[in-house]
Amino acid sequence: MSDREHETYDVVGIGFGPSNLSLAIALEESRANGPEKEIDGLFFERQPRFGWHRNMLLPSATMQISFLKDLVTFRNPTSRFSFISYLHASGRLPQFVNNQDFFPTRQEFHQYLEWAQSQVADRISYGSEVLSVRLPEGTLPEQSDTLLLDVADASGQGRRTVETRNVVISTGLVPSMPEGTERDERVWHSSEFLARYRRTNPAELRRVAVVGAGQSAAEIARFLYDELPHAQVYAVIPSYGYAVADDTPYANQIFDPAAVDDYYFGTEQTREAFWRYHRNTNYSVVDDEVIRDLYRRTYADEVQDVQRLHFLNLTRVTGVKRAGTETRVTLQVGPDSEVRELDFDVLVCATGYKSMEPTELLGDLDRHCLRDESGRYRVERDYRIVTAPEMRCGIYLQGGTEHTHGLTSSLLSNLAIRSGEIAESIVTRRAEQRLLRRPC
Ligand code: FDA
Ligand code: NAP
Repeated sequence: MSDREHETYDVVGIGFGPSNLSLAIALEESRANGPEKEIDGLFFERQPRFGWHRNMLLPSATMQISFLKDLVTFRNPTSRFSFISYLHASGRLPQFVNNQDFFPTRQEFHQYLEWAQSQVADRISYGSEVLSVRLPEGTLPEQSDTLLLDVADASGQGRRTVETRNVVISTGLVPSMPEGTERDERVWHSSEFLARYRRTNPAELRRVAVVGAGQSAAEIARFLYDELPHAQVYAVIPSYGYAVADDTPYANQIFDPAAVDDYYFGTEQTREAFWRYHRNTNYSVVDDEVIRDLYRRTYADEVQDVQRLHFLNLTRVTGVKRAGTETRVTLQVGPDSEVRELDFDVLVCATGYKSMEPTELLGDLDRHCLRDESGRYRVERDYRIVTAPEMRCGIYLQGGTEHTHGLTSSLLSNLAIRSGEIAESIVTRRAEQRLLRRPC
């Protein structure tokens, strides 16, 4: 990254996962449309290098969207940043087509994202955690065209401040643990799974439990069953059995770009219908292929009269106590919610995530951001937080907008279109501001 700390950027992105990577590319492509579309942007990422949910890069995990829902194709099918361009550059396009599969592995998609980010690397600062966004000292919103970001070097070595006209917050989902449960060396959240697993001695893991009935839980249960042939694997699931993720064509339409308008401009009743009928496209559900793959293992064990994969269904974790090297887990089990305690060597909580929450980052600035009657941010169609009218800078959200823009908010499905809309909004607002400033 070039050292341009004293410049004022048009936009600074906080977090550099797929969302802001897609935005960096949209800005790059906008530049090609003429100097008036040129946007000066910089992105901060706290990880030392690019990584997309690295701790869940399990060998057989596949993508949950078509490869055509990559960083660009829905906005610009001729983009040089597409998944197909990546395959071509890697010399694998014919083999990929021969494989006849819309859903690459997460490992291959990760390689694609790494390839894409390397082409915009001059705009990314890795190892940089944004601590706060604020107005310049002593100014009111109506007096400032810029915001300041305080950024810490991840090594703890230093801090710097950068100035920007707009900020795009994309800090990702926040891991959620069962109530009364803290993470430690034997109690893990799925978001840290592989890093933790690699630090343990597999021979010591004889009784492991995976909590949750979502995609993460099923993938981890399968991984542990395969990796630990000497171990008993317990699936602690709140449902009666894993339920399938609906990815049939009509239901899948809720991830189409047009569905964002239907949700955004819809009535409360419309929005409620989206959730009531289609939550099972994404939450607490598992891909059909993973369910069948696991069941095949259960059945093979039946045939051999062994049982290594145990299901505690209709069961929730309500607490964890440490007992020496073991982890004693309190469970509410079965149809009668009987309370039981079981000991495990490791408890993996694949208990999902909370949505992105930028309140802390915004600090004092937050009081200029307007909220609805439920206390959630009001958000414009262009993903800008609705701010008090005197605020001149734009605060955009990529993530955390499920209540306004619908289910794609936390997913990859609509990235290409969304980042194009944000780039366009920044370009248009800048042109309007320049016109206003021009002397009559
Ligand atoms: P993401 O979480 O990827 O990135 C946010 C980044 O911000 C992180 O790199 C983080 O380090 C950084 N950051 C946070 N705070 C910061 C700060 N203060 N300063 C600097 N950097 C900061 N969806 C889908 O549509 N298809 C799929 O196949 C999958 N697969 C999938 C697998 C797994 C295991 C999970 C957990 C989730 C998915 N998802 C998914 C959903 C997932 O939310 C989505 O794939 C993207 O990660 C969303 O990208 P973002 O860039 O918004 O967030
Ligand atoms: P999730 O779908 O939100 O599932 C969390 C699960 O944990 C739910 O079944 C939930 O049950 C359960 N749970 C929560 N608290 C519990 C408790 N105290 N006791 C027992 N169970 C509890 O989360 P996820 O599986 O991590 O998926 C999150 C996102 O990541 C989804 O978009 C998913 O598609 C994606 N993902 C993708 C891949 C891939 O691409 N291959 C892999 C993993 C994840 P309740 O609903 O009853 O609370």
